[in-house]
Amino acid sequence: MGLKDLSRGQRLLDDDRDNGDGGALARSISYFRRRLLEDVELRELVTLSASQRRARLERTVAQLISVEGAVMSSAQRTTLIRQVVDEALGLGVLEPLLADPTVTEIMVNGPGEVWIERDGRIQRTGAFFAGEAELLQTIDRIVSTVNRRVDESSPMVDARLPTGERVNAIIPPLALHGATLTIRRFPRAFTFEQLVDMGTVDEPTAALLRAMVRARLSIVISGGTGAGKTTLLNALSGFIPGAERIITIEDSAELQLQQPHVVSLEARPPNVEGKGQVTIRDLVRNSLRMRPDRIVVGEVRGPETLDMLQAMNTGHDGSLSTVHANSAEAALIRLETLTSMSDVAIPFEALRDQINSAIDVIVQLERFADGRRRIREVAAVASAHRDTFRLRTIGRFEHEPVGPDRTIIGRFEHFSLPEPVAYRLMLAAEPTPEVFTAGASGVTAPVREAV
Ligand SMILES: Nc1ncnc2c1ncn2[C@@H]1O[C@H](COP(=O)(O)OP(=O)(O)OP(=O)(O)O)[C@@H](O)[C@H]1O
Ligand SMILES: [Mg+2]
Repeated sequence: MGLKDLSRGQRLLDDDRDNGDGGALARSISYFRRRLLEDVELRELVTLSASQRRARLERTVAQLISVEGAVMSSAQRTTLIRQVVDEALGLGVLEPLLADPTVTEIMVNGPGEVWIERDGRIQRTGAFFAGEAELLQTIDRIVSTVNRRVDESSPMVDARLPTGERVNAIIPPLALHGATLTIRRFPRAFTFEQLVDMGTVDEPTAALLRAMVRARLSIVISGGTGAGKTTLLNALSGFIPGAERIITIEDSAELQLQQPHVVSLEARPPNVEGKGQVTIRDLVRNSLRMRPDRIVVGEVRGPETLDMLQAMNTGHDGSLSTVHANSAEAALIRLETLTSMSDVAIPFEALRDQINSAIDVIVQLERFADGRRRIREVAAVASAHRDTFRLRTIGRFEHEPVGPDRTIIGRFEHFSLPEPVAYRLMLAAEPTPEVFTAGASGVTAPVREAV
């Protein structure tokens, strides 16, 4: 421990005494909790019983407070120790993983196995729970904060930690190898500059996407699980001009828009008695009565797709959403399937018509073998009316065959904009980056059919 830490611990407690407000107490709790996690040997801790563990932690916190903390009454001291330990024990062996910002996902497959994702790669950690009971208790602690419970009658549940992490739990008998917990870190909001720095997209393509959003093209981001769809949607939404009224609709609120005029709506699962559900579709329909300039739907995965497309076709162009699919073609076909899930009986060709006229551009994301997320393709929808879907590449990432070390050597390629897209940008007085103009490369990608 250095002098800096000492003065920090002292200052926190001084704050505490000065005004006695809850914020300062919370700060001392979180400070000592962090110090505790730094000091304590977790591997050793997991071998202890619950009561031994508490005693050990209390002893450590007491030592930390006597060295780093201010002078305080023994009652104050006991309260502080108890609260720090309570918080530290809250999520057991998961605490240090949650405290580590480089961990983006935590996966618990039964009490004996804890995996994490770091830098896009999955690895097993040495952490484990003392037994099934302790794991279940941790799960219970998490889901009870959102008034849900996990038991035989409701063996799977989605919840969210107070800090924003998204949690899914599924227990036996559905999970065959023990209770399984998946925690997704609340996605960091990356700016486009950061995405360019990380190699997700190159500068010209980022500039093009900016122009497209501002020119009100309707864009669907597509990709597999964890490919970075929500992150890109957040960054793209950042290009919407501040003067517009934006309504965001999500299953669990992850978007963090910075514009001054944003209304955020979040769907609600049914409660324990199976009542009170509000779906994404309900929210999309309701949003149309809220005078939106733009609707941003976190992800379409059900009958709301048709409502979303209809909204895009009736004056709410420039709307943005994501869909789960592994290629731009597959995204269109997935949208077609999703629209057909609606209870409105519409002939199949008419559904295609809706998609062809609503969606201008698909952005395909992929997590590559080196763990990086990149824009694999930006493609314009080139089909109209009831035609079979057709796509024309505007930009794409091409790479050499991946070697055994899984490094990726590749580059972004650019093609000149299809006429209708170029025209839309021109009408909106949005500049087209040079590499996408016919003058620069002169190459227009061929149209391909989505089959
Ligand atoms: N371009 C990127 N570069 C590096 N990390 C990224 C990038 N995009 C997303 N991530 C990280 O990857 C994880 C998953 O991102 P995100 O939630 O955006 O994916 P998703 O495709 O929306 O996932 P899901 O299918 O679960 O909705 C997050 O931890 C996020 O911070
Ligand atoms: Mg997402």
